[in-house]
Amino acid sequence: MTEPADLTATRAGYDALAEQYGDLSRASLDAAPLDRALLGAFAESVLADHPDPVVLDAGCGPGTIAGHLARRLGVPARGVDLSPAMVEHARRAHPGIVFDVGEMGALALADSSVAGLVAWYSLIHVPAGRRQDVLREFGRVLRPGGHVLLAFQVGEDTLYLDEAFGRPVRLDFHRLLPDDVAALLEGAGFDVTARLVRAPDPGSVAARIPQGFLMARKAA
Ligand SMILES: C[S@@+](CC[C@H](N)C(=O)[O-])C[C@H]1O[C@@H](n2cnc3c(N)ncnc32)[C@H](O)[C@@H]1O
Repeated sequence: MTEPADLTATRAGYDALAEQYGDLSRASLDAAPLDRALLGAFAESVLADHPDPVVLDAGCGPGTIAGHLARRLGVPARGVDLSPAMVEHARRAHPGIVFDVGEMGALALADSSVAGLVAWYSLIHVPAGRRQDVLREFGRVLRPGGHVLLAFQVGEDTLYLDEAFGRPVRLDFHRLLPDDVAALLEGAGFDVTARLVRAPDPGSVAARIPQGFLMARKAA
C-alpha cells in the first residue's frame, strides 16, 4: 500500500532537522517548569496504577521525553518515531533506552502492552482525517487503566514550513483545539482526566502561541 504523502514529507523533514531539533527539544523542556510538572503528575499516575509500568514516547524525536521519564521520574520508557535520523539521535543521547523507527498510527506493539503513552507535539503532524484512528491505536496498545498525555500547540490553523534551520522541508503543524482533542479521545474510549492551556510566552520562539495539554485514561 502506498504511504500517505504527509508521512513521507514528515519523515524527510525531521530527518533533515534531527541534530538541530535535539538541542531545541532539550532546551524547551529545561525552560518549562509547568511541562515538567505535568510529566511528573503523569509519571506518578502511571506508577501508582501499574506495578510494572512501561511508557511509550510516541513521536519521540530526539528522545527528550523518554529520557526525562526514565532518568528523572523513574518510569521505564521506550520511544518510537517516524524519522530514522531522529531515532538515531535518540539512541545516541539516551543509551539504555529502546527507540524504534515506526509510525504511531500502526505501532509494532502488542495489545495492552504499555501502561502509559506520551505524544508530545507529535499528534500535530497527523492530518484531521487520521487523528481518531491514531488515538484508537494508542488505546489498543495501552493496558486497561493506562494513561495518555498529549501536548500540542493550540489553534485552528495549520502552520506550513518549507524551511527550518536553513534547510528545505515540507512540514505541516496542525494546531488543535483542546475540546476537539478531548472529543477524539472520548471517541477512542478514553476518559479525559485533565486539560490545561499554557498562555503564550512572548520570550520563547517555540511557545509564542498557547500550548495545550490533555491527560486521559483508558477505561479500566
Ligand atoms: C515536533 S517533533 C516532537 C518530538 C518530541 N516529541 C519532542 O517533544 O522533542 C514531532 C516528532 O513526531 C514525529 N512524528 C510525526 N508524525 C509521526 C507519526 N505518524 N509516527 C511517528 N512519529 C511521528 C516526527 O518525526 C518528529 O520527530
